Amino acid sequence: MKVLIVGGGGREHAIAYAVSKSPKVDKIYCAPGNAGIAGIAECVDIQVMDFEEIGKFAKKTAVDLVIVGPDDPLAAGIVDVLKGYGLKVFGPDGKAAILEGSKAFSKDLMKKFNIPTAAYEVFDKADKALAYLEKAKFPIVLKADGLALGKGVLICNTLEEAKAGVQEIMLDKKFGIAGNRMVIEEYMTGREVSVLTFCDGKTIKVMSSAQDHKRAGDGDTGLNTGGMGTFSPSPFYTAKIDEYCRKNIYKPTVEAMAEEGRPFKGVIFFGLMLTDDGPKVLEFNARFGDPEAQVVLPRMKNDIIDVMLACVDGTLGKVKLEFEDNAAVCVMLASNGYPGKYERGFVIQGLDKFEDKDGYYVFHSGTKKTGKGIVTNGGRVLGVTAKGDSLKEARTRAYEAVEWIDFENKYYRHDIGKAIDEA
Ligand code: AMP
Ligand code: GLY
Repeated sequence: MKVLIVGGGGREHAIAYAVSKSPKVDKIYCAPGNAGIAGIAECVDIQVMDFEEIGKFAKKTAVDLVIVGPDDPLAAGIVDVLKGYGLKVFGPDGKAAILEGSKAFSKDLMKKFNIPTAAYEVFDKADKALAYLEKAKFPIVLKADGLALGKGVLICNTLEEAKAGVQEIMLDKKFGIAGNRMVIEEYMTGREVSVLTFCDGKTIKVMSSAQDHKRAGDGDTGLNTGGMGTFSPSPFYTAKIDEYCRKNIYKPTVEAMAEEGRPFKGVIFFGLMLTDDGPKVLEFNARFGDPEAQVVLPRMKNDIIDVMLACVDGTLGKVKLEFEDNAAVCVMLASNGYPGKYERGFVIQGLDKFEDKDGYYVFHSGTKKTGKGIVTNGGRVLGVTAKGDSLKEARTRAYEAVEWIDFENKYYRHDIGKAIDEA
């Protein structure tokens, strides 16, 4: 089989790695890919929003399966366009990707189908939102309706902060048209868990859980980022919680989408908060998480191609998803300054050290091949993942491997997986 992966980050590298292990696959393309992905796939210089070029390329090279990684092309309907080219595509169509693309849609869906989530209101006028805040309890959470590179969520402690937030989102349009509408919701407390699932439109299969670390600094300080590190499984996601979520959250969500005429095929990522009143949905994503994919996929026993084809063909009910009985930890190596301003173009040393080491992985996020060698080319540069028999062992190994890599302005959190000590 020939497979084309759309995207060029750590998530797509982890997907490409899983695909490369399938005996069914003899050629992998990636658009646009990156310097790490280039080690296992042929990278083609087409950007993820260039749907027609992707379609033409896939058709010309007779690709058997296209896998779409990132949220932006999914929400903009890449799957519909590629299907128009007669291609087989893993990922939700535009009608289903709205589950991530509009927070107002997803909140209304949860309310309609009794899926536990924070209480909320939707606003499409700033004056109504401001009036609502006058009577609200704080802290409170403001969310731009649309996609905002993971930055459209503001947690506000005071009325003043919240008013400034409404100004930024709805009036100053800091997140562009994503802020034409907004959700204001109740602030929840508890532990966060990321649960990735495969869906074929009617059946949902749950992958092993994970936990992300979204803030830039140690001790959960600093700005929100795309994710600074992950561990899998989450020791706080117990069998009892899993059973509750399957019954009250996962199954109702796929059924709700089907009932709304938006059958979801692909990955639904449930961002959950384990509150004192039980697990509640923080958000849905319509794709693998990044860096969740970097700890979950290396632990998956199935041939990923079998699972993805079953999602596309509607036969997921026959698949038994299996994960290794171990753990994995991923530490993101970033450029100093991220998620603010940072420099790029620094040569990366030590990547070769991963080549012959079982259970250690380096997934590239923002890298580029140049005449000088592979250089940094983004805020998040590399995800260093290690597996171990236990979370603690995986964590020790991941931090060991972090030292193998060297580049100027290397920055990382030192406390990824610290929470497991409390488990
Ligand atoms: P989201 O993009 O919706 O996942 O939001 C980003 C982060 O904001 C989440 O991972 C949470 O840490 C936080 N967050 C979002 N919604 C809430 C909420 N209702 N209560 C508390 N924290 C929240
Ligand atoms: N790690 C969070 C996300 O992929 O959105």
